[in-house]
Amino acid sequence: MDVRVVDESLESFKSELIVVGLCKGSSVPNFLESVDKKLDGSISHVLKTKEFEGEFGQFRLISTLGKLPSKSVLLFGLGESKDLTLDVLRRSAGVSAKIVRDLCGVSEFATVLHTVDVPKSSKDERAQVVTEGTVLASYQFIKYRTVDRDKIKVLRKVTLVGDGVANSVKKGMILADCANLVRDLANEPASSLHPKELADVAKELERLGIKVVVHDKKSIEKIGLTALLAVNRGSVHEPRLVVMEYNGGGKKKVALVGKGITFDSGGLNIKTDDGMMTMKHDMTGAAVVIAALKAASQLKLGVNLVGVFAATENMPGMDAYKQGDVVKTFSGKTIEIANTDAEGRVILADALAYTEKTFKPDLMVDLATLTGAVSVALGSPCAGVMGTDQSLIDSLLLSGKSTGEKLWQLPFFREYHEQVKSDIADVRNLGIIRKEAGAITAGAFLAAFVEKTAWAHIDIAGVSWLDYDGEYIRRGATGFGVRLLINALENLK
Ligand code: BES
Ligand code: ZN
Ligand code: ZN
Repeated sequence: MDVRVVDESLESFKSELIVVGLCKGSSVPNFLESVDKKLDGSISHVLKTKEFEGEFGQFRLISTLGKLPSKSVLLFGLGESKDLTLDVLRRSAGVSAKIVRDLCGVSEFATVLHTVDVPKSSKDERAQVVTEGTVLASYQFIKYRTVDRDKIKVLRKVTLVGDGVANSVKKGMILADCANLVRDLANEPASSLHPKELADVAKELERLGIKVVVHDKKSIEKIGLTALLAVNRGSVHEPRLVVMEYNGGGKKKVALVGKGITFDSGGLNIKTDDGMMTMKHDMTGAAVVIAALKAASQLKLGVNLVGVFAATENMPGMDAYKQGDVVKTFSGKTIEIANTDAEGRVILADALAYTEKTFKPDLMVDLATLTGAVSVALGSPCAGVMGTDQSLIDSLLLSGKSTGEKLWQLPFFREYHEQVKSDIADVRNLGIIRKEAGAITAGAFLAAFVEKTAWAHIDIAGVSWLDYDGEYIRRGATGFGVRLLINALENLK
């Protein structure tokens, strides 16, 4: 989607439709007075008669009847002014964009949502979130639809009317486009996105000056990522380990690590049809790492970043790893396989240990669609976070509040770590009390493969895919995590 900024007045700018946000109970704001006059008081009329009251999400389309260059004005309700935040603005941009596309059937429009007076916000922040909300809401995954393509409503262009916000609009676009890249990758059917293709996407980042090294099966064998190889054994497609480096300066080296299971059938502990249906998106953690590096370099962030992901399918092929197997890992520790469907933690064991040993980062954050248990605990409104460093976790929690990608910290007591100890190996890939605290025991398992680095694990299994439409995120892959990570990196001390 094309997002522009023009330094023009509402009365002179020409578009199909102009979105104007109004809080509950507000009268015609100053900047709309002349527009209202030109429209013979139509706006003040609908406010006076309470035909439009400004409830969040309420809207009213007013035709300009040729009295303005633009064809119509869409009044959009922002809700109570006391509740107005940047996230409300982002949500308003998303909901109004969908109204414009789906109900008004317009593909080009203008907006002045960024001029709304949000307490404690700058005009740059407002322009950024309006751009994010609009671009995220306009996302559609329609490449495989062939019938009546011309009838699919698409938003092509939005113009923010008002000057001086071009840089923030650009930033909002980069962030939303990178989140949409995650969505494209996660929505892509697994039979056209194997580890090789996922690695190819990362390789494209070289064009931005990012150093990308792709390790194929031979190289993975040489490095000794035996846990990744174990999970890969049931698949006919070879695994990949991908390392991306972007150095924009900064005192601390930050490592981002992602789970890249391009399809999770469950392996020999095969999933049910419902459980398997969306497992093409089990590589979302890896996609978020790719997109975060892309965004960091496009935004020229002053951080020293390394992104790593391990990619394989989890399939029940002839040589698949089995329940009861003991798997060696890069770290030297051994894993008892209690369930082949708990494969994400097995590949991450290698990815985390390899990243820590090879790059010696100051901070390490992994993202993984790791457990169904996290969505039982938290659902889709927020992801679970846990780890070994409270100040890292605190900064992620704070970033989540500001980007709308909310996190909730789960406890990480000693007892949970006890539950993943094995009798015959060092750790087992399932908590000893199977049905208890599945998201936390998965995190505790990962902790066994992080020696001393300040580390946080974000379980995105509940948030990376939606079965229903959200306000600015349509059902399917959500792209959760990219904006969160960039915000956290920007706030690094
Ligand atoms: N990829 C799944 C987790 C998942 C579930 C992600 C739903 C997204 C949506 C993971 O590999 C898995 O299968 N986990 C098992 C672990 C269990 C066997 C201990 C689960 O959650 O059931
Ligand atoms: Zn699984
Ligand atoms: Zn999985």
